[in-house]
Amino acid sequence: MERLTVELPGRMYEIHIGSGLLARCGPLIRAVTAAERLAVVTDSNIAPLYLAQVEESLRAAGFSACSVVFPAGEQSKNIHTLNLLYERFAEEGLTRGDGVVALGGGVTGDLAGFAAATMFRGIDLIQLPTTLLAQVDSSVGGKTAIDLPQGKNLVGAFYQPKLVLADTDALKTLNRRVLCDGMAEVIKYGMIADTALFALLEGTGGPAGLEGRIEQIIAACCAIKCAVVTEDERDTGRRAILNFGHTLGHAYELAYHYETYTHGEGVAAGMVKMLELEQKKGRDTAALGERLRALLRAFSLPEAIPCAMEAYRAAIGLDKKAKGGRISVIEVERLGEAEIVPMDKEALFALLEE
Ligand code: GLY
Repeated sequence: MERLTVELPGRMYEIHIGSGLLARCGPLIRAVTAAERLAVVTDSNIAPLYLAQVEESLRAAGFSACSVVFPAGEQSKNIHTLNLLYERFAEEGLTRGDGVVALGGGVTGDLAGFAAATMFRGIDLIQLPTTLLAQVDSSVGGKTAIDLPQGKNLVGAFYQPKLVLADTDALKTLNRRVLCDGMAEVIKYGMIADTALFALLEGTGGPAGLEGRIEQIIAACCAIKCAVVTEDERDTGRRAILNFGHTLGHAYELAYHYETYTHGEGVAAGMVKMLELEQKKGRDTAALGERLRALLRAFSLPEAIPCAMEAYRAAIGLDKKAKGGRISVIEVERLGEAEIVPMDKEALFALLEE
């Protein structure tokens, strides 16, 4: 079992990482909230797997628990599902002193988190992430959001949870592609901030080698995220390094209408492409690029994704790190060291076109 603390003044919370946490979430949640009633928000894939054990543990710890199950998938992360959550919370008699438990992957955490941030102007939120991506990234750090037809995560709030319980047993039911999707973010953490983590990942040789090391790996990622979020909760500076590979990764997701490539697959190819662009600018990233590509191959992640210039332009236009004609790109020249580099968008397009 690993335990970390997010040291935000007045909103400090713990992240627990280990086996069996869902089945014994009740007493752990009891210790961080005065809520009497908890609404467990989950999707149609996760409900049959874990909802009963979570509700049972909550009731055994003295909570009155209800649940809201929405159809699984990114297409549910919208204003209509959000409205359904608000209405169900009201029907179930939640009050300002009650709370929301987000049980699932990134969509559930973002959606239920935004509902908790806004219902009664904010009620307690507990994150129970069940995918690797959610355990190392989206459940930690307080970003909550829904999508608009115009783009992903365009409406949201910074809203920190009271507790994050990452049950590593939940990863055992993930299919290989979903697990490797999360591994792209794990590899990103090694690239931006942790040479030892990167070497550890190289030593695994692929998904089979994660056995017995996954708690340590998730904890290493969360430690980096905690440090970055503590320094820059509102994403006005250093937090941007977490987006290494994401500017181009979003272009790949968008170019294929979010249907062909997962988020992690986009990020994987985006990291490789960014190292190539750095090399065009005269930086020596060849050897690092070779190591990165070998690691991506080990986790069945793409090293490149074909993409038209229009898709790059469309995605970079929507990028939250863009202001006017400028954008901040995240560069890694030496393993474990990320830099935020402002540049003209046109200069970036020119490099992409070369
Ligand atoms: N997923 C990037 C961040 O939390 O800032």
